[in-house]
Amino acid sequence: MGMKRLLIAGGCGFIGSHFVRLMLETEEWRVINLDKLTYAGNLENLKEIGEGDQYRFVRGDISDRALVDELYKSERPTAVVNFAAESHVDRSILDSAPFFQTNTMGVQVLLEGGRKYGVERFLQVSTDEVYGDVENSVPCDEEHRLAPSSPYAASKAAADLLSLSYKRTYGLPVIIVRSCNNYGPFQFPEKLIPLMIRNGMIRKDLPVYGDGMQRREWVYVEDCIDAIRRVLERGNDGAIYNISTEKEYTNLDVVHLLCNLMAGETEMEEASLRNSMKFVVDRPGHDRRYATRATKIRKELMWKPVVTFEAGLQKTIRWYLENYEWVERVTSGTYRDYYDAIYVRAWK
Ligand code: NAD
Ligand code: TYD
Repeated sequence: MGMKRLLIAGGCGFIGSHFVRLMLETEEWRVINLDKLTYAGNLENLKEIGEGDQYRFVRGDISDRALVDELYKSERPTAVVNFAAESHVDRSILDSAPFFQTNTMGVQVLLEGGRKYGVERFLQVSTDEVYGDVENSVPCDEEHRLAPSSPYAASKAAADLLSLSYKRTYGLPVIIVRSCNNYGPFQFPEKLIPLMIRNGMIRKDLPVYGDGMQRREWVYVEDCIDAIRRVLERGNDGAIYNISTEKEYTNLDVVHLLCNLMAGETEMEEASLRNSMKFVVDRPGHDRRYATRATKIRKELMWKPVVTFEAGLQKTIRWYLENYEWVERVTSGTYRDYYDAIYVRAWK
């Protein structure tokens, strides 16, 4: 019996690279990682992994029909897990085109290959942002209506609906996971937590959008990939699973906690870190609150998050302190233009 073959798309990004590493720990799977290497994809995230029987890297775009077809034909994956996406809400506000190209059309191309070559499982990695703002309602279960607010969330919701249509129409064994906000090592410093850590390290302002009272749930990336593996191996075809710690924090809570923990790990003073917080122009269309329930994955797949927010943040801060060259390299190119568009020109 040969190894089962797993096509992972977007395996060089933040969550994807943790998942690739996890799936290579046992020798059950041959992993084929298809990644375009956008600004967010970095070969360095997987530098310790060599290519061979167990692992192959292919640089390419999930919306490239010929390339994807050829890859399915030659590798005949048993299962597909799709992480590939444009993943940052703020960028989707500046330009939504690449979001629909990758997050929606790219998923159509991957689904088509899955159908044509008959995969046994197609796992689409989605987000709690498809439920939209739930400021005044109860936390969402998987049945909750979709009401995406940002172009990013809309492009992901479109992919969810398309994936479910492939299940219903063609019987493709699709599963969707919708996770709350992840954090941990290798996250690109455009997202809240790594951006605050980086800015703190280089003594820049800590920019808080609006009043900072927006609420999010946060899961440590290793807990999230454990959930995704369980769903891949034991989830029900056609099902949707929320992944969540079910614990809400305001952005101010998060930044205060970061200031406290960073002061504990460095020479910096908590008070001076806190003083560098700046309330800046709010993100247009900003969702006030995401809140989900993960009852289904807890009950069906016995998943539960094991890393507390404080412990996870501490590990994350240590990683960024120890890997500052990584931060410098990933922010050396066009990062500056992006940063100026949002934080200096304030969306204008
Ligand atoms: P990321 O931005 O760090 O990585 C995305 C990866 O996809 C990069 O390696 C990039 O090169 C690759 N990619 C982008 N466009 C591609 C294309 N057209 N073809 C092939 N590869 C392409 O993203 P992430 O934070 O790791 O998120 C992974 C997935 O999880 C995304 O689908 C995202 O929507 C979802 N998600 C993320 C979070 C979070 O908090 N980070 C929460 C919920 C859901
Ligand atoms: P982000 O990490 O972009 O994730 P998402 O918008 O997908 O939840 O942002 C998390 C929260 O932090 C969100 O409410 C926006 C806010 N935020 C700031 O206040 N300042 C920042 O510089 C960034 C990047 C985010």
